[in-house]
Order: sequence, then structure tokens, then C-alpha cells
Amino acid sequence: MKLTAEEKEMLAGKRGNAAKKSMEILVALGEIFGAKRLVPVTSVQVSGVSYANLGDAGLEFLEEMAKDGRARVYTTLNPAGMDLENWRALGIPEDFAKKQKMVIDAFAKMGIQTTCTCTPYFVGNRPKKGSNISWGESSAVTFANSVLGAKTNKEGGPSALAAAITGRTAEYGLLLEENRQAQAVVELKSELKDETDFGALGYLIGKRLGNRVPLITGVKKASEDQLKSLSAALPTYGGPAIFHISGITPNKTGVPAEKITLGQADFEQAKKDMNDAGEVDFVLLGCPHCSIGEIEKIAALLNGKKVKKEFWICAARPVKKEADKKGFSKPIEEAGAKFACDTCHAVAPLKGRFRCVMTNSAKGCFYGRGSNGFKMQLRTMKECVEEALK
Ligand code: F3S
Repeated sequence: MKLTAEEKEMLAGKRGNAAKKSMEILVALGEIFGAKRLVPVTSVQVSGVSYANLGDAGLEFLEEMAKDGRARVYTTLNPAGMDLENWRALGIPEDFAKKQKMVIDAFAKMGIQTTCTCTPYFVGNRPKKGSNISWGESSAVTFANSVLGAKTNKEGGPSALAAAITGRTAEYGLLLEENRQAQAVVELKSELKDETDFGALGYLIGKRLGNRVPLITGVKKASEDQLKSLSAALPTYGGPAIFHISGITPNKTGVPAEKITLGQADFEQAKKDMNDAGEVDFVLLGCPHCSIGEIEKIAALLNGKKVKKEFWICAARPVKKEADKKGFSKPIEEAGAKFACDTCHAVAPLKGRFRCVMTNSAKGCFYGRGSNGFKMQLRTMKECVEEALK
């Protein structure tokens, strides 16, 4: 791989240990994937933030990097294992909280913005079309590639951190135009009505096309929240971290010859496949983290009512603050629902606390089942709120 003089200096350890270690990670990755060079990045999102996933070995690695590593580009974090302020109310154990705070402190020392969210594009980390970035969380990566038109591979925690410290990433995979082109047309014969339909679409494409890039046709309109839902479901169920929708997404692509069609029956089956039987004892919205528009809708649905089940709304802290200012948080909190900022059900230590979770997220179904062993049910936002009120 061809390195610039500055990159060679970093690799030789002349710019400190963290920069050296970071360059070693990037060069090793670049060589494995056949990259010819490193390219500058304008934005980073680091995953691997929850102490539940990092453990003591991960924490030690971060503290070592924090000794002399400093972020050179704007960097935010993926959700942590708890709400960093309100963790007691959400039942997080004290010893876990202590370790989680040490993880966040290490990132803060490196000059990283400690906003923990899978929707960084709602909180100021919103890259421009065509820019190279280094993001980690799969829904955010897919949204960035497909909806914003930025370019990123799905980075692991160490490689995204390495990008933050060096300001670079290896140029391979989805950074290259030829790997972003559509490989099969997905023709929709069924209208997509809500976020669960977009989630089911991601599920179906992942199952049918695997890692091949889809060009979806027949979508009349799609909101950012609906595209967020598709971005989350597609890579979760085996699809690539990029999609194109004719007339809606910004990237240029050729039209491939291969075509599959998806109709009403496919969507009904997909939703059945993602549902378990069980009595719901936990309702969760905000996977990926809620937009301000979604919080506004939840506020309207809960206004003047009282929830009877544990009900979490996951969001980035700055979005929750905006909701406070706009008066959306009050009816939600008065109804007894809880905001879970900085975290989500997949990375918080919730095993054994709940049996059956209802959510409007196809991705959330997969991870709730996989990470915490919950039974999962997929419904619309309105149906989820109604369940919480029962
Ligand atoms: Fe975000 Fe957690 Fe869902 S990281 S996409 S809320 S599983």
C-alpha cells in the first residue's frame, strides 16, 4: 500500500503510540482487502462502546489509546450499555455503571464527542454526499451510504477509532464506486405504508439477495424515518450496507438485468417470521434512535394517558433535549414512559428482566432475540403505544 510521508511517520511511531497502533490497524486492514492507499475521512462514528461488549480487555485497550491518542476529525459514539445520566431509573447495576463511565471517559480524553447514538446524522454528525467517512454501526453505515450518499465500510470499533486518530481509512469496499453499483432490481408490487413495511422490505431483500446491492423500484415516497428503518433491517438480515431506491436515493447506479418481485404475501410472511408468541412485558421504540418527528408522534399518542407496561423510548441525548424544549417529553414522561438516551435494548445488560418485547423495529427484533434472549413482536408505532397502555 502506498503511504504518504505523514502516514509513514505515524506508522514509525513518530506521532505517538496511539497513532502508531492506529496506522498498524489501518494498514493491516488495507492489505487484507487489497487497498492501494489510505484516504482522508471527514467524519467518524465509533461502535463497540457498551461495556457489556467490551469487557475489561476492551476498556484496557481504550485507556491505553487514550494516553496519547487524539481524534483528528469529528467523531461520535455508538450507543453505550446504559443511559449515562438516568441509568439508575432504568435498573442498571452500580458496578456496570462504573465501568461504563470509565469507557466513556477514555473516549472523552481522546477528544471524541461522547454523544452515544446510532443516528449520528440527527445530531450534527451528518456527512456530505460523496465524502469518505468511517462509521461503525450497521444501520448508520447503510443510511450514510444510501440516503446521504457518503461512503463508508462497516467498521469495527478499533478500525473506526484508528480512523478518528489518524484522520484516514483504507480505500476499499464501499469506498469504491464499482462496489456501490446495483446488482439486482427489486420490483415492489405492494405499497409500503409504515416503518414496519420498510423493515420487512429490508428483511426480504437480505433473505432473497444476500449481499448483492439492490435497486428498489415502485416506491412512491419514503420519509427519512422510513429509510432509517430499511437501513437498519437490510444489513441485519444478510443484506449489504447500501441500497438504491429509484427516484428517491441520491447515488447514481446502472440498472442490472436480474430482477425479483415482492408482493403483499411476501410482506405478510416476513412479518410473521419476525414475530414470536408471548405476553408482552416491555415495549420499545427508537431502534434506530428516534428522530424528533417520531418523538412528537409518540407524545401525541400518549398525551393524557398512563402506560401500564415498561416502555422505553431510545434516542440520542441532544434529540431528547430538543424534545424537552419543544414540549414533547412532558406528555411522554407524565404517561410513565421512560426515555433511554445513549443506549438501547441490544447493548444494555437486560437479560432476564423481560420476557417478550414489542417494537416497531425489524432490526430490534433480531437483536432483542439474539443479545438478550427476548421473545419479540413487530408492530407499528401506534400499536406499540396501544400495547403499553393495556
Ligand atoms: Fe441502534 Fe440499538 Fe437498534 S444500536 S439500531 S437502537 S439495536
